[in-house]
Amino acid sequence: MDRLLLDVNGCFDADSGGLGRDDLSALEPAARSAWEQLEARRRSGEIGFPDLPKDRALARETVALARELDAAFDNLIVLGIGGSSLGGKALVTALAHPNHNLLPTGRRTGMRVFFPDNSDPATFDGLLSAIELSETCFATITKSGGTAETMAQHLVLRERCIVHFGLQGYRDRCVLVTDPVKGVLRKLAAAEGLRALSVPANIGGRFSALSPVGLLPAAAAGVDVMALLDGAAAMAQRCRSGSPLENPALLLAATLHLSDVKRGRRIHVVMPYADGLRDLSDWFVQLWAESLGKSEKVGPTPFRAVGATDQHSSVQLMMEGPRDKVVTFVRVATPRADVKIQVPEDYRQHPELAYLDGHTMGELIDAELTATEAALRHAGRPTIRLTLPRLDARSMGELVMMLELATAYAGGLYGVNAFDQPGVEAGKRYAQGLLGRPGFEEARKELLAQPASDPALLLG
Ligand code: PA5
Repeated sequence: MDRLLLDVNGCFDADSGGLGRDDLSALEPAARSAWEQLEARRRSGEIGFPDLPKDRALARETVALARELDAAFDNLIVLGIGGSSLGGKALVTALAHPNHNLLPTGRRTGMRVFFPDNSDPATFDGLLSAIELSETCFATITKSGGTAETMAQHLVLRERCIVHFGLQGYRDRCVLVTDPVKGVLRKLAAAEGLRALSVPANIGGRFSALSPVGLLPAAAAGVDVMALLDGAAAMAQRCRSGSPLENPALLLAATLHLSDVKRGRRIHVVMPYADGLRDLSDWFVQLWAESLGKSEKVGPTPFRAVGATDQHSSVQLMMEGPRDKVVTFVRVATPRADVKIQVPEDYRQHPELAYLDGHTMGELIDAELTATEAALRHAGRPTIRLTLPRLDARSMGELVMMLELATAYAGGLYGVNAFDQPGVEAGKRYAQGLLGRPGFEEARKELLAQPASDPALLLG
């Protein structure tokens, strides 16, 4: 097997309450229309992510900049949040050495890459106090250029670099990834003479993993971004059909949609059996939730788990709790490394240990996946299985493109626009009002006019 495999049989166990093939047939026209809607928006140039793998000039420019930084510095701090951080982080976690940042220079391919992501001052200060600033550069990644969390971190690092290394030292250490024309960051790039990569105007935050947003950190950590784009291109090609039985991303979207609306499976658990895919789950949760959570009727809510760890935790809830979940297992067919288990002669009298002898840890985790999946199916709990041939750049490209397309198709099936995020704006307005940004006085007033608290419900 040399390409990603999607198996949704575990949602179609009709004799244990699963979906029927007739459900899928009945959804065919809606699925085709969801596919056509995305195709039309892609062809018109409004939506750009499916065509990112073709933009090799932008990828080459990104790799060249990553190499320049790598030649001069040991550490890269990625300043970004949400879609401007999670994709790059998922790629680095999946494709770099599992202890990439701990490897000494010389044993490491590429730079150490850090993703503080959140604006928690303890994390940020902790990072800055742990690394050597003279060996550090930073990439400020924000499509809009005006995200408070990212720009606050940028301002802190800018100031420190100027104090320690002067204006040119700051210029050497800072690169920007932002909109080609709009936003304050683009203005700063011109005014301060900073190197900047463009996020194409038709690429939104959470769909930008295969643009310089994700590719710059990945390339800096030594990932083969051309192989990543090859995998993504191959998946985009496999998805050029409006039939769910020919298009894996459409089949995934249709299965999750049907499981939700026909069987009330309103929670989607993404459960990779590979630590390298933990951050991929975080990325997917954001992609799905921020794209689709726009109506009280739209689900399913994404939930992150990891095997085998969660077999000792939330699997109990999946097995015997409310029948409201679909569990997607993500399997890596051939692990990057494997470790043999040997049971010494004098331990073999213990049957609890003897059976492990001669097996590998890879066989163990794989058996755990197969067993948990089978147990869920026997209990009438729907499952999906995604198999990656290997955890390599090509497979990650396929996976990222498939999940992005599936999310966009699901938007069509649910009748919501997957590419905006009006629901997160209110909180942003209030925060800017609180911090006194001119023009946000009304938001501040609205916030302060919140109903008064009942002292009885406030225990101190
Ligand atoms: O998916 C999205 O649009 C968001 O999660 C954004 O990526 C996030 O809000 C950061 O935005 P920006 O890149 O403009 O800083």
